[in-house]
Amino acid sequence: MSKKRILSGIQPSGTIHLGNYFGAIENWVKLLDEYECFFSIVDYHAITAPYDAALLPGRIREAALDNMAAGLDPERCTLFVQSHVPEHTELCWLLNCATPLGELFRMTQFKDKRQQHGWENISAGLLNYPILQAADILIYRADAVPVGEDQAQHLEFTREVARRFNTKFGQYFAEPKTIIGRGKRVMGLDGVGKMSKSMNNFIGLTEPAEAVWEKLRPAKTDEARQRRSDPGDPFKCNIYSYHELVTGDEQLAEIRQGCTTAGIGCIDCKKILAANLEKVVAPIRERRAELEKKPEYVRDSLMAAAEKCRAIARKTVDETKSLMGLGGQI
Ligand code: TYM
Repeated sequence: MSKKRILSGIQPSGTIHLGNYFGAIENWVKLLDEYECFFSIVDYHAITAPYDAALLPGRIREAALDNMAAGLDPERCTLFVQSHVPEHTELCWLLNCATPLGELFRMTQFKDKRQQHGWENISAGLLNYPILQAADILIYRADAVPVGEDQAQHLEFTREVARRFNTKFGQYFAEPKTIIGRGKRVMGLDGVGKMSKSMNNFIGLTEPAEAVWEKLRPAKTDEARQRRSDPGDPFKCNIYSYHELVTGDEQLAEIRQGCTTAGIGCIDCKKILAANLEKVVAPIRERRAELEKKPEYVRDSLMAAAEKCRAIARKTVDETKSLMGLGGQI
């Protein structure tokens, strides 16, 4: 029996951080054997918000390096750059014309950005962003999409796009399932919002240990712990939420106990976290340093992946066009 297929994507819009890793990439690596895997560096999505064109090629390269170093071995999955497969935008146009505008205006991400920046300062691309995401997924007829919790609405939207298309033009697209990773919503260092590239509240996946410590040292803990002797509640502490991602069960129990009895100070708790995190990220940093010495290998594998994608994507676009009454004999 052939394997089911997954697709997921990540924007090259800044440093890849621990939220991306524990919410998505770590899970992608776990799924490599079970599924036929497609992962995309979604550069067309990254240009929907203001950006510096001179920096974009470097960011795409960085994203490829980080993902490969984190375990997306090109021998075991298809890791490609979205804009190398122009069929994505072609399918996006077709789906654009089969999607009501009202659906797009209701998307949370769009509503937030519109409120923040105003109509004149956001692009039409931002409005159409979810349709491009639906096209990314549907073009490979993916069975499932592994993502962090923040993408749930986009995936529900994708299923609606598929449903609406099928009703109008005949059963064609399967509705992809959502797979949520264990770090489904990793909080930022401020403990207020989710960790994100744009909020500057992140720890980069491949940041040096010293830089990570500089960020962890002053990071928010349970506010009840003003002095070393104050007991706290681990479940109100952002640092504990990071421990849950990298610390083993036994030590985790000790930390809970230490926090509630004031047996452990916040700085010591952070030191243990830094050491455990380092065990996870050090091998990724090392693999990344190795990959940096092999730019042709990285480039060639992205190119080969795009070629494989184009063959699949072309077929979907042609079949979609045909169902929509396009591309036939006139
Ligand atoms: P992006 O680039 O914002 O994030 C990539 C992946 O990382 C997850 N993630 C998080 N998970 C937990 N906690 C966090 N703080 C956190 N921050 C990010 C995201 O959920 C995501 O899985 N729209 C998408 C990119 C995209 C896509 C697609 C995804 C484009 N086409 C097709 C899936 C399928 C995005 O902006 O992800």
